[in-house]
This record gives sequence, C-alpha cells and structure tokens, in this order.
Amino acid sequence: MTTTPRYTDYDTWAWLYNETMGPDYSRAQLKFLRQVLLPDLSSNAAILDLCCGTGQLIQPLMAAGYEVTGLDGSAAMLTYARQNAPQATYLLEDARYFQLSEQFDGVFSTSASLNHIMTLADLTQVFGNVYRSLRPGGRFVFDLNHPAQMQKWWRNRIVEGEIISHYAWRLTPEYDPATAEGAFHVEIFQAQSLTSPLARWTQLLKQALYRLLSLRRLTGLRLRLLSRFEKIEPTWTRSRLTYRVKGHSLTDIHTALETAGFIDITRQTIDGNPTLDANHSAHFICRKS
Ligand SMILES: C[S@@+](CC[C@H](N)C(=O)[O-])C[C@H]1O[C@@H](n2cnc3c(N)ncnc32)[C@H](O)[C@@H]1O
Repeated sequence: MTTTPRYTDYDTWAWLYNETMGPDYSRAQLKFLRQVLLPDLSSNAAILDLCCGTGQLIQPLMAAGYEVTGLDGSAAMLTYARQNAPQATYLLEDARYFQLSEQFDGVFSTSASLNHIMTLADLTQVFGNVYRSLRPGGRFVFDLNHPAQMQKWWRNRIVEGEIISHYAWRLTPEYDPATAEGAFHVEIFQAQSLTSPLARWTQLLKQALYRLLSLRRLTGLRLRLLSRFEKIEPTWTRSRLTYRVKGHSLTDIHTALETAGFIDITRQTIDGNPTLDANHSAHFICRKS
C-alpha cells in the first residue's frame, strides 16, 4: 500500500511557533487580508487557510463571522490551531495532495508557507488543488519570499530571535542563488534548573537584562547577544532545526498560476505597493474565472 507524503517538519517546533512567530506574523497578515481578500467576500464566506500553522489568523476571522477551514501537514501545528480557534474545521493534509471541490469563496496562504514547496511542478499542483477547491469567482491570496529578496537578506546571519526567561531562540536563513534553494535554521536554547543560590541570583539579574532587550528598538543589540548566546548561557541546552525552502522566480509563480487556471493575477508588497523590491516578499492576488 502506498501512502501520500505529508510535510510534517514543523512538528518539532510547533510550541515555539505558537508562542512567538504565529502571533507576531498574524498581525500584519490580518491587516493585509482585510485589505485585499475580505472586501470581496460575503460576511459569512467559506475560507480556507492553506498551511494554517498554529491558526492565529483563524480565530479573528471566525469571530468576524467567516466559516474557516485550516489545512496543514503538521499535526502538532494543528493541535495549537485547535486550541487557538476551536470552532474552525481542520484538515491534516499536504498542500500538494489535498482534494476538495468548489467549496470555498476564498483561499489564503500566509508567511511564505509555500516556499517549502520545493519544485515548480509541486507548486503548480498546489495551485491546481486550490483552484479546484474554490467556487467560481473565488479569490486566492498568498505570499512568497522571492529570489532577489532572499539573495539580499538570507546571508547566514541571525535575523530574528528572542530571549524569554526560560528559553531563547534565534533564526538564521541562508540562500544559494545558483540553485535557488535555501534553508532557515532555528536554534533553541533551554534553561536548566539552578541549584545554588548564587546561580539563581545571577540568573535573576540576567533575566532583567533579557526583558529589557525584548524592546523592539534594542533588536540589534538582542541579535548580537543571541549570536554568542552559547557563551553567555553555557549551561542551557541547545538544539538546531533546519527547514528547506525554494526561491521560486516571480515569472515561474505567475506561469504556474496561469497553468492552474487563475486569472486577474496581480502582485504587490504587503503594504500595497505594486512595485516589488528586494526588501519585501511578493503577495499574489488572483481569482478563479
Ligand atoms: C511559516 S509557517 C506559516 C503558518 C501560518 N500560515 C502563519 O502565517 O503563521 C508554515 C506552515 O506551512 C506548513 N506547510 C509547509 N509545507 C506544507 C505542505 N506541503 N502541506 C501542508 N502544510 C505545509 C507547515 O507545517 C507550517 O505550519
């Protein structure tokens, strides 16, 4: 018996994503959806959140009256999504292989989830699955990191990270223009319980510093400190996870959408600027005829 592959890589850091990036990314993404997707839908429209992750976007959409389904390949991500938005419907499926027919008025996929689709053939297949799941006239909105942007920013340097009282994490992306493939590495440090009173006092002082460093205007300093965190907190355990991505060209993405049948294809930055540059990811908007 053959089984269909499913993308499960996020199982290993679902807890961290749910506490950090999930809530963080959803704020700007929700604003974007309110501008480009929701105005075209009826107030009780059926929406698919493709690669929904921990579901931080689903909760406000359900609260606004939409009927939302979340699909993701990671069971652990969906466990958090169910906690964050219990009333939604969830599908543990792979974006490359799901088969649903004409039941959604809108489909969206946010935070560069589809960069994990490693070949153009698979991306075209994802778009075909989305197309079949939409009712006539239905909208599809998604964002992807693109080659020029990845070449500029994915340079094997720490770009994101936080120090919370009992754990810290840092994210380092890298990209190879020759293959248009890249990866981001997530390193997680976890505190060990301290026995001596002196160690506990020292830790309290450090935690005060870490709280201060959580201020947005001290991001540069925080990332510098995180770059040598193993020296600052030598007793904390450290694990490293790697997630592969593909930098699909903007032209290839456009062609794949057309192949799947989509029309009225436009792209813009998250702020609505139709001119893309290396500082912004590409947000595509299109519809089924
Ligand atoms: C960066 S997270 C984004 C989650 C959510 N969309 C957000 O904006 O926070 C990427 C998500 O895509 C999912 N994913 C990646 N490839 C997938 C695939 N082929 N099928 C289903 N889910 C996939 C991962 O499991 C993960 O939950």
